[in-house]
Amino acid sequence: MKKRVFTTRTLILSVSVICFVTAILLLSSFGGTENENNSVQQDQAKGLKDYYKDFFPIGVAVSPTNIEGEQGELIKKQFNSLTPENVMKPALIHPEENKYNWEPADKIVAFAQANGMKVRGHTLCWHTQTGAWMTKDAQGNQISKEIAFARLKEHITTVVSHFKGKVYAWDVLNEIISDSASTTKIYRETAPWYKICGDEFIPKIYQWAHEADPNAILFYNDYNTENPVKREKIYNMLKKLLAQGVPIQGIGLQAHWRLDDPNEQQIKESIDRFASLGLKVQFTELDVTTLGNRSDTTKTYTPEKEMKQTEFYKMAFKVFREKKSAITGVTFWNISDRGSWLDRGGRKAYPLLFDANLQPKKAYWGVVNF
Ligand code: G3I
Repeated sequence: MKKRVFTTRTLILSVSVICFVTAILLLSSFGGTENENNSVQQDQAKGLKDYYKDFFPIGVAVSPTNIEGEQGELIKKQFNSLTPENVMKPALIHPEENKYNWEPADKIVAFAQANGMKVRGHTLCWHTQTGAWMTKDAQGNQISKEIAFARLKEHITTVVSHFKGKVYAWDVLNEIISDSASTTKIYRETAPWYKICGDEFIPKIYQWAHEADPNAILFYNDYNTENPVKREKIYNMLKKLLAQGVPIQGIGLQAHWRLDDPNEQQIKESIDRFASLGLKVQFTELDVTTLGNRSDTTKTYTPEKEMKQTEFYKMAFKVFREKKSAITGVTFWNISDRGSWLDRGGRKAYPLLFDANLQPKKAYWGVVNF
């Protein structure tokens, strides 16, 4: 009798399991629209941030208008970190000596907080997008070093304090290293702060930022960081600063890349080199332009460009995943091919993972299918 009950139960159980498995298979074959790389539709509920949850946050640079409407929805689904593209820069947030314009940046920070996203602050000190008033006196003459220090201190202390506890990381200094192929030409000598102060302002600005928010992670941020000559100049500057006890914890590698530059080896070398200083490494402004040199006047996203860009993005994210122990963030510079800072002079760069209709491109699937 016992044996018979067992047999009946087993039969019912087996039939149930078969029905369940069949239902799942049917659902996935009828309901699952296949995308470019065989991901099924259920994956379309996931965003970049979900695919990369075990690796690092995925960010995007935005303006205050980007976070509204359909772009806002895309951001919420795909990203878990924001960088204000322009509105925290000195000229915009501090347009006059006694005037701060907090509203645009506050709006981005509030959106991030409401949606559980991190915020990277960009940037406290740069040679571009700094109000003329900051480095000149009322007569338009260059200010003294003492006045420069006082203005930088006031600016940095006020801005970092305003966002204390809300901005987790700051690009304190942006792009002070020279692009010159000469190994002895270290700094961007045309930068107003360098002209006035030499390199003396560099340790100070990190100290002031640290005093204003001791918990903020302080970065140096630059581009062309895979070029061995520039990379070594940056490396040496950071090594020296760290040896002096300057509070700097991270290196931002901007990653404004091209279809054929840099290569995999150069990206790896750059990560390893900076990580060897004990710094956190972030890719802070990632995009991959499909434009060639200035003679490239193509306005379309050709199949060849699509294929090369997909391969490039796959390669880059493979490296990022391999090096995840060194990397604490990857941020795209703009949301989609609808609008990028690279679209200038009537040319279109198509540098991002979403097309102008905000749909994922082949490169997107190349990045998330691993
Ligand atoms: O807001 C004004 C608008 O009022 C005016 O009508 C219009 C006319 O040109 O200009 C608008 O300002 C532009 C601003 O972007 C906002 O769109 C500036 O001209 C333009 O120069 C500025 O470009 C920004 C650029 O930095 C400045 O150098 C880009 O948006 C921004 O993406 C770019 O970001 C930099 C990073 O901060 C540092 N690394 C390189 C990266 C790309 O250049």
